[in-house]
Amino acid sequence: MTRSRFGIAGLGVMGRNLALNIEEHGVPVAVWDVERAAVERFTERNAGKQITGVKSLEELARAIERPRRIMMLVPAGEAVEQTLAGILAHLDAGDVLIDGGNSWFLDTRERSRRLEAAKIHFVGAGISGGEDGARFGASLMPGCTAEAWQAIRPVFEAIAARSDSGPCVTRVGPDGAGHFVKIVHNGIEYADMQLIAETYELLRRGAGMAADEMAAVFEEWNRGPLQSFLIEITVRILRVRDPETGQPLVDRIVDKAGQKGTGKWASSAALDLAVAVPTITAAVDARLISSCKAERKALSAVAAALLSSPVPDRGRFADDLHDALLASRICAYAQGMSLIRAGSERWSWNIDLGEIARIWKGGCIIQARLLDTIMRAYEKQRELSNLLLAEEPRKAIAERSGPWRRTVSFAQSNGLAVPGMSASLAWYDAWRTADLPQNLTQAQRDLFGAHGYQRKDGGEEAPVVHGEWK
Ligand code: 6PG
Repeated sequence: MTRSRFGIAGLGVMGRNLALNIEEHGVPVAVWDVERAAVERFTERNAGKQITGVKSLEELARAIERPRRIMMLVPAGEAVEQTLAGILAHLDAGDVLIDGGNSWFLDTRERSRRLEAAKIHFVGAGISGGEDGARFGASLMPGCTAEAWQAIRPVFEAIAARSDSGPCVTRVGPDGAGHFVKIVHNGIEYADMQLIAETYELLRRGAGMAADEMAAVFEEWNRGPLQSFLIEITVRILRVRDPETGQPLVDRIVDKAGQKGTGKWASSAALDLAVAVPTITAAVDARLISSCKAERKALSAVAAALLSSPVPDRGRFADDLHDALLASRICAYAQGMSLIRAGSERWSWNIDLGEIARIWKGGCIIQARLLDTIMRAYEKQRELSNLLLAEEPRKAIAERSGPWRRTVSFAQSNGLAVPGMSASLAWYDAWRTADLPQNLTQAQRDLFGAHGYQRKDGGEEAPVVHGEWK
C-alpha cells in the first residue's frame, strides 16, 4: 500500500471535495470519518484513486508519512475538540494538525498554544468557496507558525484557486489569525448578500421588474466595477424556473434567511475590538428579522405599504441603484478591512491587508473586482488606517454620492427596508464629518454621571475636566 502523504478527518461536503482536489494534485490521501459507512461509500466511489479509507483516528495516523499533515473538516466546537482528543495521542513532535472548519478564532489560539506544548503544529485554516472551491480551487487562509506553513505550503498552493495575482493562499499570520480573517470574510459575505438582496428588492418593487429583467440588469452590471461571484450567481438564480409552476424558482422560496453564526461572530468581534462594522451588523439583523415571518405578516396587515406604483424612469433608477450598490459595497469591505487591522494589532499578528485582498480575488464567496482596488490601496500604503483614506476608493464613493443618496431616500420615503445601504451611508457620512454631535453626548454624560470631557481649546491630549451644569 502507498503511504498517504495527507490525511482528511471528516468526510462532509468540504472534506470529500478537498480530498479529491488534493489527490488530483498527486498527493495520496488517507480519509477517516466518524461514520464508517461514509468512508466506505467514498472509497468505493473513488476506487482507483490514491485514496485510502481508514476505520479509526489511530489508523489514520499510521497511514500517513511523517511529519504528518492531517486536516480536520468537522463542525466547529465540540466535534473539533473530540477529533483533536482522538488523534492527539497518535501524533508525534513535528506533525501538523489543521482545522479547516469555521472555528472561533480564540478557540484556535488556545488550541495552538495547547498543542505547542506537545511540539505539534496546529493550523487554523479559513477555507472559502463552498463545494466547488474545495473541489476545484478555494481561497485558503491558514494561521500558523512559519515552520508549519513550509510543511503545508505545497499542498495548499496546489489546491488553491488562481487569480491573475497568483494562488489564493497566504500564511495570514500566527495561531488564530487565519480563522479571524475567515470570520471577517463571512461578515463581508453577509453584508454583500444583504446589499444585493436590497438591490433586488428595489428592482422588483421600486422598478416593478420581473426576474428575467432583473437578471439582465445584474448581468450587465457584472461586466463592470460590480463584477463579483455573488452578482454572477444572482443572475443564474434569477433565471432558474420552478419545474412545478414555471415561475421563477426564487419566488417560491420562503423569505426566512438561515445562518450558522459566523456573521454574528464578525459583529461581536468588532464590538469587542471597538470597530464599527454597521453594514455587517445590519446584515445579521436583517436575517434575524427575516426569520420572524409570522410577526412580520401580522404587522404588514395593519401597517399599509407606502409604495403606490413603480418608478416611471426605470433606466435612471437602475443606474442610481448600481452606484448605490457599489458605494455601499466599498463601505462593507472597508469595514471588514478595518476589523482585520484591529485584530492584527490587538493580537500582534502583523497581517498584510494587501495580501488578504489578493487571496480573496479568487476561489472565495466575496471574490470581486473591487478587491483589485483594495489590494492596490494597501500595496501603496501598508499601514492605511481606513480604506476611505485611499484615493481610489474614496473617489469611487464620492463620485457616486448623489445616486447613492437618491436611492436610499427613495427607499426610505417609500417604506422599503434597505438597512445595509443605509448603514453604509451613515457610516460614510460619520467618517467624513470632522465635528460630530457627540460633544452633546459628552455633556450629558458629565451632567448625569460626572464622567468628564475634554475642552476643544485644550488640544489633542486635553485634560479631562468637569463642567458646572446645575
Ligand atoms: C464560504 C462560506 C461558508 C459558510 C456558508 C454558510 O466562505 O465558503 O462563508 O464557509 O459556512 O456560506 O454560512 P451561513 O449559514 O452562516 O450563511
